Amino acid sequence: MSRLKSLENLEIKNKRVVIREDFNVPMKEGRIVNDARILAALPTIKYALDKGAAVILISHLGRPQEGVYDEAYTLAPIAERLSHYLKHHVTLIKDWHHGFTISPGQVALCENIRFSLGETANDEILSQHLADLGDVYVMDAFACAHRAQASTYGALTQAKEACAGPLLCAEVQALDRALLTIERPFLAIVGGAKVSTKLTVLEALLAKVDHLIVGGGIANTFLAALGHAVGCSLYEPDLVPLAKKLLSSKILLPIDVVVATELSATAKAVTKSLEEIKPEDKILDIGPKTIALYQSYIAKARTIVWNGPVGVFEYPAFAAGTKNIAESIAASSAFSLAGGGETLSAIENYHLNDKISYISTGGGAFLEYLEGKSLPAIELLQQRA
Ligand code: 3PG
Repeated sequence: MSRLKSLENLEIKNKRVVIREDFNVPMKEGRIVNDARILAALPTIKYALDKGAAVILISHLGRPQEGVYDEAYTLAPIAERLSHYLKHHVTLIKDWHHGFTISPGQVALCENIRFSLGETANDEILSQHLADLGDVYVMDAFACAHRAQASTYGALTQAKEACAGPLLCAEVQALDRALLTIERPFLAIVGGAKVSTKLTVLEALLAKVDHLIVGGGIANTFLAALGHAVGCSLYEPDLVPLAKKLLSSKILLPIDVVVATELSATAKAVTKSLEEIKPEDKILDIGPKTIALYQSYIAKARTIVWNGPVGVFEYPAFAAGTKNIAESIAASSAFSLAGGGETLSAIENYHLNDKISYISTGGGAFLEYLEGKSLPAIELLQQRA
Protein backbone atom coordinates (compact mmCIF):
# COMPACT_ATOMS: atom_id res chain seq x y z
CA MET A 1 0.00 0.00 0.00
CA SER A 2 1.13 3.57 -0.70
CA ARG A 3 2.57 5.16 2.42
CA LEU A 4 0.76 8.31 3.52
CA LYS A 5 1.12 10.40 6.65
CA SER A 6 -2.34 10.25 8.14
CA LEU A 7 -4.31 12.61 10.37
CA GLU A 8 -4.39 9.93 13.07
CA ASN A 9 -0.61 10.32 13.47
CA LEU A 10 -0.85 13.99 14.47
CA GLU A 11 -1.65 15.73 17.74
CA ILE A 12 -4.45 18.17 16.83
CA LYS A 13 -5.89 19.22 20.18
CA ASN A 14 -6.55 22.99 20.16
CA LYS A 15 -5.18 23.23 16.63
CA ARG A 16 -6.89 24.70 13.57
CA VAL A 17 -7.28 21.82 11.17
CA VAL A 18 -8.09 22.69 7.56
CA ILE A 19 -9.66 19.76 5.73
CA ARG A 20 -10.09 19.65 1.94
CA GLU A 21 -13.18 17.56 1.33
CA ASP A 22 -15.02 16.89 -1.92
CA PHE A 23 -18.56 18.15 -1.42
CA ASN A 24 -19.04 18.34 -5.18
CA VAL A 25 -22.41 16.60 -4.99
CA PRO A 26 -25.08 16.39 -7.70
CA MET A 27 -27.54 19.30 -7.31
CA LYS A 28 -30.92 20.06 -8.87
CA GLU A 29 -32.57 23.46 -8.49
CA GLY A 30 -30.47 24.28 -5.43
CA ARG A 31 -31.18 20.95 -3.73
CA ILE A 32 -28.77 18.12 -3.05
CA VAL A 33 -29.67 15.07 -5.15
CA ASN A 34 -27.21 12.64 -3.57
CA ASP A 35 -25.18 13.29 -0.44
CA ALA A 36 -22.93 10.21 -0.47
CA ARG A 37 -19.83 12.41 -0.57
CA ILE A 38 -21.03 14.39 2.46
CA LEU A 39 -21.71 11.18 4.38
CA ALA A 40 -18.28 9.83 3.46
CA ALA A 41 -16.59 12.95 4.90
CA LEU A 42 -18.40 12.88 8.25
CA PRO A 43 -16.10 10.44 10.11
CA THR A 44 -13.08 12.66 9.36
CA ILE A 45 -14.84 15.79 10.59
CA LYS A 46 -16.13 14.03 13.72
CA TYR A 47 -12.67 12.64 14.40
CA ALA A 48 -11.09 16.11 14.29
CA LEU A 49 -13.82 17.52 16.54
CA ASP A 50 -13.49 14.66 19.02
CA LYS A 51 -9.75 15.29 19.22
CA GLY A 52 -10.41 18.91 20.22
CA ALA A 53 -9.57 20.69 16.95
CA ALA A 54 -11.15 23.75 15.33
CA VAL A 55 -12.29 22.46 11.95
CA ILE A 56 -12.14 24.49 8.74
CA LEU A 57 -13.59 22.79 5.66
CA ILE A 58 -12.72 23.54 2.04
CA SER A 59 -14.50 22.24 -1.07
CA HIS A 60 -15.54 23.11 -4.58
CA LEU A 61 -18.99 22.61 -6.07
CA GLY A 62 -19.53 22.44 -9.82
CA ARG A 63 -17.58 24.45 -12.31
CA PRO A 64 -18.53 28.10 -11.75
CA GLN A 65 -16.72 30.92 -13.52
CA GLU A 66 -13.61 31.36 -11.39
CA GLY A 67 -13.22 34.54 -9.38
CA VAL A 68 -16.95 35.32 -9.41
CA TYR A 69 -19.50 34.64 -6.66
CA ASP A 70 -22.43 32.74 -8.12
CA GLU A 71 -25.44 31.90 -5.93
CA ALA A 72 -26.09 28.80 -8.07
CA TYR A 73 -22.87 27.25 -6.76
CA THR A 74 -22.92 28.35 -3.13
CA LEU A 75 -21.99 25.79 -0.49
CA ALA A 76 -24.92 26.98 1.69
CA PRO A 77 -26.93 23.75 1.14
CA ILE A 78 -23.82 21.75 2.06
CA ALA A 79 -23.34 23.74 5.30
CA GLU A 80 -26.98 23.07 6.14
CA ARG A 81 -26.70 19.32 5.43
CA LEU A 82 -23.47 19.08 7.43
CA SER A 83 -25.06 20.89 10.39
CA HIS A 84 -27.92 18.40 10.24
CA TYR A 85 -25.70 15.30 10.21
CA LEU A 86 -23.15 16.59 12.71
CA LYS A 87 -25.87 17.98 15.02
CA HIS A 88 -23.52 20.90 15.25
CA HIS A 89 -23.76 24.31 13.59
CA VAL A 90 -21.49 24.69 10.54
CA THR A 91 -20.82 28.33 9.68
CA LEU A 92 -20.42 29.23 6.01
CA ILE A 93 -17.60 31.78 5.61
CA LYS A 94 -17.55 33.92 2.48
CA ASP A 95 -14.51 36.09 3.21
CA TRP A 96 -11.97 33.69 4.56
CA HIS A 97 -8.87 34.58 2.54
CA HIS A 98 -7.16 36.58 5.29
CA GLY A 99 -8.14 34.29 8.13
CA PHE A 100 -10.96 34.37 10.67
CA THR A 101 -11.52 33.54 14.30
CA ILE A 102 -12.48 29.99 15.14
CA SER A 103 -12.28 28.05 18.43
CA PRO A 104 -11.75 24.36 19.13
CA GLY A 105 -15.03 22.49 18.79
CA GLN A 106 -16.30 24.83 16.06
CA VAL A 107 -16.76 23.95 12.38
CA ALA A 108 -16.53 26.47 9.53
CA LEU A 109 -17.04 25.80 5.84
CA CYS A 110 -15.29 28.20 3.49
CA GLU A 111 -17.40 29.22 0.48
CA ASN A 112 -16.86 27.38 -2.84
CA ILE A 113 -13.12 27.44 -3.46
CA ARG A 114 -13.76 27.84 -7.18
CA PHE A 115 -15.11 31.35 -6.50
CA SER A 116 -11.49 32.22 -5.68
CA LEU A 117 -9.30 33.35 -8.55
CA GLY A 118 -6.33 31.05 -9.03
CA GLU A 119 -7.83 27.80 -7.68
CA THR A 120 -7.65 25.81 -10.91
CA ALA A 121 -4.28 27.32 -11.89
CA ASN A 122 -2.84 26.26 -8.52
CA ASP A 123 -1.98 29.89 -7.74
CA GLU A 124 0.76 30.31 -5.16
CA ILE A 125 -0.83 33.17 -3.24
CA LEU A 126 -4.19 31.42 -2.98
CA SER A 127 -2.40 28.23 -1.89
CA GLN A 128 -0.60 30.23 0.82
CA HIS A 129 -3.89 31.77 2.03
CA LEU A 130 -5.34 28.28 2.32
CA ALA A 131 -2.31 26.92 4.14
CA ASP A 132 -2.29 29.91 6.50
CA LEU A 133 -5.86 29.21 7.62
CA GLY A 134 -4.69 26.45 9.93
CA ASP A 135 -1.92 24.63 11.72
CA VAL A 136 -2.47 21.45 9.71
CA TYR A 137 -3.76 20.99 6.15
CA VAL A 138 -5.54 17.69 5.60
CA MET A 139 -6.23 16.32 2.14
CA ASP A 140 -9.25 14.05 2.45
CA ALA A 141 -10.82 14.66 -0.97
CA PHE A 142 -9.90 11.52 -2.90
CA ALA A 143 -12.48 12.47 -5.55
CA CYS A 144 -10.38 15.47 -6.60
CA ALA A 145 -6.91 14.09 -5.82
CA HIS A 146 -6.33 14.01 -9.60
CA ARG A 147 -6.59 17.82 -9.77
CA ALA A 148 -3.36 19.73 -9.06
CA GLN A 149 -5.15 22.88 -7.91
CA ALA A 150 -4.53 25.36 -5.10
CA SER A 151 -6.73 23.57 -2.55
CA THR A 152 -5.81 20.03 -3.61
CA TYR A 153 -2.10 20.53 -4.23
CA GLY A 154 -0.59 24.00 -3.70
CA ALA A 155 -1.84 24.32 -0.12
CA LEU A 156 -0.30 20.93 0.67
CA THR A 157 3.09 22.14 -0.47
CA GLN A 158 2.84 25.39 1.52
CA ALA A 159 1.32 24.05 4.74
CA LYS A 160 3.58 23.76 7.81
CA GLU A 161 2.07 20.33 8.36
CA ALA A 162 0.19 18.36 5.70
CA CYS A 163 -1.33 14.91 5.82
CA ALA A 164 -3.94 12.61 4.35
CA GLY A 165 -7.37 12.30 5.93
CA PRO A 166 -8.97 8.96 6.89
CA LEU A 167 -11.24 8.95 3.81
CA LEU A 168 -8.34 9.47 1.41
CA CYS A 169 -6.38 6.70 3.19
CA ALA A 170 -9.36 4.31 3.03
CA GLU A 171 -9.85 4.98 -0.69
CA VAL A 172 -6.19 4.35 -1.50
CA GLN A 173 -6.18 1.23 0.65
CA ALA A 174 -9.29 -0.19 -1.07
CA LEU A 175 -7.99 0.56 -4.56
CA ASP A 176 -4.57 -0.89 -3.74
CA ARG A 177 -6.18 -3.99 -2.31
CA ALA A 178 -8.01 -4.55 -5.60
CA LEU A 179 -5.16 -3.58 -7.91
CA LEU A 180 -2.03 -4.67 -6.07
CA THR A 181 -2.97 -7.42 -3.63
CA ILE A 182 -5.05 -9.17 -6.22
CA GLU A 183 -6.92 -12.28 -5.19
CA ARG A 184 -7.78 -14.19 -8.35
CA PRO A 185 -9.87 -14.62 -10.40
CA PHE A 186 -9.91 -10.84 -10.85
CA LEU A 187 -12.96 -9.58 -12.76
CA ALA A 188 -13.51 -6.01 -13.94
CA ILE A 189 -16.82 -4.68 -15.23
CA VAL A 190 -16.60 -1.49 -17.24
CA GLY A 191 -19.76 0.00 -18.66
CA GLY A 192 -20.60 3.38 -20.07
CA ALA A 193 -21.20 5.11 -23.34
CA LYS A 194 -17.82 5.39 -25.00
CA VAL A 195 -14.68 3.34 -25.53
CA SER A 196 -12.82 6.61 -26.18
CA THR A 197 -13.35 7.97 -22.63
CA LYS A 198 -12.38 4.67 -20.98
CA LEU A 199 -9.72 3.44 -23.39
CA THR A 200 -6.78 3.81 -21.01
CA VAL A 201 -8.78 2.21 -18.18
CA LEU A 202 -9.66 -0.73 -20.42
CA GLU A 203 -6.04 -1.16 -21.48
CA ALA A 204 -4.72 -0.92 -17.91
CA LEU A 205 -7.31 -3.36 -16.57
CA LEU A 206 -6.76 -5.84 -19.40
CA ALA A 207 -3.14 -6.10 -18.29
CA LYS A 208 -4.24 -7.11 -14.76
CA VAL A 209 -7.57 -8.90 -14.84
CA ASP A 210 -8.52 -12.47 -15.65
CA HIS A 211 -11.80 -11.35 -17.22
CA LEU A 212 -13.26 -8.05 -18.35
CA ILE A 213 -16.98 -7.54 -18.88
CA VAL A 214 -17.76 -4.51 -21.02
CA GLY A 215 -21.19 -2.94 -21.09
CA GLY A 216 -23.24 -0.16 -22.67
CA GLY A 217 -21.94 1.67 -25.74
CA ILE A 218 -18.48 0.22 -25.05
CA ALA A 219 -19.81 -3.32 -25.58
CA ASN A 220 -21.52 -2.21 -28.81
CA THR A 221 -18.22 -0.98 -30.25
CA PHE A 222 -16.64 -4.36 -29.41
CA LEU A 223 -19.61 -6.21 -30.95
CA ALA A 224 -19.13 -4.15 -34.11
CA ALA A 225 -15.41 -5.06 -34.02
CA LEU A 226 -16.44 -8.72 -34.09
CA GLY A 227 -18.52 -8.02 -37.19
CA HIS A 228 -21.97 -7.97 -35.55
CA ALA A 229 -24.62 -5.56 -36.75
CA VAL A 230 -25.49 -3.13 -33.93
CA GLY A 231 -28.40 -1.39 -35.68
CA CYS A 232 -28.63 2.25 -34.62
CA SER A 233 -27.16 1.60 -31.19
CA LEU A 234 -24.73 3.97 -29.54
CA TYR A 235 -21.24 2.95 -30.63
CA GLU A 236 -18.05 4.52 -31.97
CA PRO A 237 -17.25 3.45 -35.56
CA ASP A 238 -13.86 5.24 -35.41
CA LEU A 239 -12.84 3.11 -32.45
CA VAL A 240 -13.71 -0.23 -34.10
CA PRO A 241 -10.13 -0.89 -35.37
CA LEU A 242 -8.78 -0.23 -31.89
CA ALA A 243 -11.45 -2.42 -30.29
CA LYS A 244 -10.36 -5.17 -32.73
CA LYS A 245 -6.79 -4.88 -31.43
CA LEU A 246 -7.96 -5.05 -27.80
CA LEU A 247 -10.20 -8.06 -28.37
CA SER A 248 -8.96 -11.07 -26.45
CA SER A 249 -10.37 -14.11 -24.68
CA LYS A 250 -10.39 -12.04 -21.48
CA ILE A 251 -13.17 -9.78 -22.79
CA LEU A 252 -16.68 -11.04 -22.20
CA LEU A 253 -19.31 -9.66 -24.55
CA PRO A 254 -23.12 -9.94 -24.65
CA ILE A 255 -24.56 -13.04 -26.33
CA ASP A 256 -28.09 -11.61 -26.33
CA VAL A 257 -29.45 -8.10 -25.89
CA VAL A 258 -32.56 -6.07 -25.12
CA VAL A 259 -33.44 -3.66 -27.93
CA ALA A 260 -36.04 -1.00 -28.71
CA THR A 261 -36.52 1.34 -31.63
CA GLU A 262 -36.49 4.38 -29.34
CA LEU A 263 -35.13 5.28 -25.94
CA SER A 264 -38.12 6.29 -23.84
CA ALA A 265 -40.03 5.14 -20.77
CA THR A 266 -42.79 3.71 -23.00
CA ALA A 267 -40.49 2.02 -25.55
CA LYS A 268 -41.25 -1.63 -26.28
CA ALA A 269 -38.31 -3.71 -25.07
CA VAL A 270 -37.56 -6.88 -27.05
CA THR A 271 -34.93 -9.53 -26.24
CA LYS A 272 -32.93 -10.60 -29.29
CA SER A 273 -29.98 -12.75 -30.18
CA LEU A 274 -27.12 -10.86 -31.82
CA GLU A 275 -28.12 -12.26 -35.24
CA GLU A 276 -31.65 -10.84 -34.92
CA ILE A 277 -30.59 -7.19 -34.50
CA LYS A 278 -32.29 -5.03 -37.19
CA PRO A 279 -30.99 -1.72 -38.59
CA GLU A 280 -33.64 0.22 -36.61
CA ASP A 281 -32.78 -1.45 -33.26
CA LYS A 282 -30.99 0.26 -30.41
CA ILE A 283 -29.25 -2.04 -27.93
CA LEU A 284 -30.27 -0.74 -24.50
CA ASP A 285 -29.48 -3.61 -22.14
CA ILE A 286 -27.97 -7.08 -21.98
CA GLY A 287 -30.31 -10.07 -22.38
CA PRO A 288 -31.08 -12.90 -19.89
CA LYS A 289 -28.53 -15.35 -21.34
CA THR A 290 -25.82 -12.71 -21.01
CA ILE A 291 -26.92 -11.97 -17.44
CA ALA A 292 -26.57 -15.69 -16.59
CA LEU A 293 -23.16 -15.83 -18.29
CA TYR A 294 -21.89 -12.76 -16.43
CA GLN A 295 -23.32 -14.02 -13.14
CA SER A 296 -21.29 -17.22 -13.49
CA TYR A 297 -18.08 -15.15 -13.76
CA ILE A 298 -19.10 -12.89 -10.87
CA ALA A 299 -19.78 -15.94 -8.69
CA LYS A 300 -16.27 -17.31 -9.35
CA ALA A 301 -14.38 -14.03 -8.95
CA ARG A 302 -12.39 -13.22 -5.80
CA THR A 303 -11.77 -9.57 -6.72
CA ILE A 304 -14.32 -7.44 -8.59
CA VAL A 305 -13.92 -3.86 -9.78
CA TRP A 306 -17.04 -2.21 -11.21
CA ASN A 307 -17.39 1.08 -13.05
CA GLY A 308 -20.35 1.90 -15.27
CA PRO A 309 -23.79 0.39 -15.90
CA VAL A 310 -24.36 -2.26 -18.59
CA GLY A 311 -27.69 -0.84 -19.76
CA VAL A 312 -29.90 2.24 -19.59
CA PHE A 313 -30.99 1.38 -16.04
CA GLU A 314 -32.81 4.70 -15.57
CA TYR A 315 -35.68 3.09 -17.54
CA PRO A 316 -37.16 -0.03 -15.87
CA ALA A 317 -37.46 -1.87 -19.21
CA PHE A 318 -33.67 -1.68 -19.67
CA ALA A 319 -32.58 -2.04 -16.05
CA ALA A 320 -32.47 -5.84 -15.60
CA GLY A 321 -28.84 -6.17 -16.69
CA THR A 322 -27.46 -3.54 -14.33
CA LYS A 323 -29.76 -4.66 -11.48
CA ASN A 324 -28.71 -8.31 -11.78
CA ILE A 325 -25.04 -7.44 -12.08
CA ALA A 326 -25.29 -5.20 -8.99
CA GLU A 327 -27.16 -7.86 -7.01
CA SER A 328 -24.73 -10.60 -8.01
CA ILE A 329 -21.74 -8.47 -6.97
CA ALA A 330 -23.50 -7.75 -3.67
CA ALA A 331 -24.11 -11.47 -3.12
CA SER A 332 -20.53 -12.44 -3.89
CA SER A 333 -17.95 -12.96 -1.16
CA ALA A 334 -15.23 -11.45 -3.36
CA PHE A 335 -13.58 -8.16 -2.47
CA SER A 336 -15.76 -5.79 -4.50
CA LEU A 337 -14.91 -2.22 -5.34
CA ALA A 338 -17.27 0.14 -7.17
CA GLY A 339 -16.84 3.73 -8.27
CA GLY A 340 -18.24 6.42 -10.54
CA GLY A 341 -21.41 8.50 -10.34
CA GLU A 342 -23.72 6.25 -12.39
CA THR A 343 -22.46 3.10 -10.67
CA LEU A 344 -23.21 4.65 -7.30
CA SER A 345 -26.73 5.62 -8.40
CA ALA A 346 -27.35 2.03 -9.51
CA ILE A 347 -26.08 0.63 -6.20
CA GLU A 348 -28.27 3.08 -4.28
CA ASN A 349 -31.30 2.37 -6.48
CA TYR A 350 -31.14 -1.28 -5.53
CA HIS A 351 -30.25 -0.57 -1.86
CA LEU A 352 -27.01 -2.52 -2.04
CA ASN A 353 -24.64 0.02 -0.45
CA ASP A 354 -23.87 -2.17 2.56
CA LYS A 355 -23.12 -5.22 0.44
CA ILE A 356 -20.30 -3.85 -1.69
CA SER A 357 -16.90 -4.14 0.03
CA TYR A 358 -15.90 -0.56 -0.84
CA ILE A 359 -17.69 2.21 -2.72
CA SER A 360 -15.34 4.92 -3.88
CA THR A 361 -16.37 8.58 -3.79
CA GLY A 362 -14.22 9.15 -6.87
CA GLY A 363 -15.37 9.60 -10.44
CA GLY A 364 -12.47 10.87 -12.56
CA ALA A 365 -10.00 10.19 -9.73
CA PHE A 366 -11.23 6.58 -9.43
CA LEU A 367 -10.72 6.01 -13.16
CA GLU A 368 -7.27 7.60 -13.15
CA TYR A 369 -6.20 5.43 -10.21
CA LEU A 370 -7.47 2.33 -12.05
CA GLU A 371 -5.43 3.46 -15.05
CA GLY A 372 -2.36 3.33 -12.86
CA LYS A 373 -1.77 7.08 -13.05
CA SER A 374 -0.23 8.70 -10.02
CA LEU A 375 -2.59 11.31 -8.58
CA PRO A 376 -0.77 14.59 -7.78
CA ALA A 377 -2.09 15.04 -4.23
CA ILE A 378 -1.31 11.44 -3.29
CA GLU A 379 2.16 11.59 -4.81
CA LEU A 380 2.89 14.78 -2.89
CA LEU A 381 1.64 13.33 0.39
CA GLN A 382 3.80 10.26 -0.13
CA GLN A 383 6.81 12.55 -0.59
CA ARG A 384 5.91 14.44 2.59
CA ALA A 385 5.32 11.25 4.62
C1 3PG B 1 -15.53 14.99 -9.42
O1 3PG B 1 -16.76 15.14 -9.24
O2 3PG B 1 -15.07 14.10 -10.15
C2 3PG B 1 -14.59 15.86 -8.64
O3 3PG B 1 -15.26 16.60 -7.67
C3 3PG B 1 -13.78 16.75 -9.53
O4 3PG B 1 -14.60 17.72 -10.13
P1 3PG B 1 -14.09 18.45 -11.47
O5 3PG B 1 -14.09 17.40 -12.56
O6 3PG B 1 -15.06 19.56 -11.72
O7 3PG B 1 -12.69 18.94 -11.21
